[in-house]
Amino acid sequence: MRIDVFSIFPEYLGPLDLSLIGKAREAGLLDLRVHDLRDYAHDRHRTVDDTPYGGGAGMVMRPQVWGEALDAAAADRPGGVLVVPSPAGEPFTQAIARDLAARDRLLFACGRYEGIDQRVFADAGRHFEVRLLSLGDYVLNGGEVAALAMIEAVGRLLPGVVGNPESLAEESHENGLLEAPVYTKPAEWRGLSVPEELLSGHHARIARYRRDESLRRTAEVRPDLIAALDARTLDAHDLQV
Ligand code: ADE
Repeated sequence: MRIDVFSIFPEYLGPLDLSLIGKAREAGLLDLRVHDLRDYAHDRHRTVDDTPYGGGAGMVMRPQVWGEALDAAAADRPGGVLVVPSPAGEPFTQAIARDLAARDRLLFACGRYEGIDQRVFADAGRHFEVRLLSLGDYVLNGGEVAALAMIEAVGRLLPGVVGNPESLAEESHENGLLEAPVYTKPAEWRGLSVPEELLSGHHARIARYRRDESLRRTAEVRPDLIAALDARTLDAHDLQV
């Protein structure tokens, strides 16, 4: 997969050199390039923002700079999904991460200030599928941290990035539920024991225990996920949560 990230703070994307994503880049599974947006601003101060039409606080990112950056990206390699991290976007989910992981080219436009001139998105639609995506209902200072989170969520789904692909299938959100709690040795620690089902060595009992804990935890902290469950995915022994 090829990923291009545009930001006025390329150093913010430094962690993408580390850990699994860094290894995926070294192994050639992921061709990730970070671009300094200011390279596309040509005045003496390399200005990327201006005052908003209609007035109001803050500054807006200028369309010319983004237009030139995205034209260059399209000329380098046409097509792909342009992700614009924004608190005004649709919520980013595991299902969207899976969809993005199946594409061969993604671009991330990291905005700052009050955001990017809206016309940039209409114009970019000539080259790319444009998606505004939000990390959650809170406001960050810019799109960089959100892009980091989304790239990590997508990158770990690429074939060969996570050593044991089975570990992906059992995670929170993969089946619409939160994952059951996990434990490791010792079986007894500071007077606290590991649930005996997990020590039983009995495969079906362990699976039942995990499923019940997963349902219980989800009902407690994310009733919205329980409400959205497809009844066909429930089995006859599932808890009445
Ligand atoms: N930029 C600022 N806040 C954001 C959020 N919550 N999600 C994605 N991008 C953002």
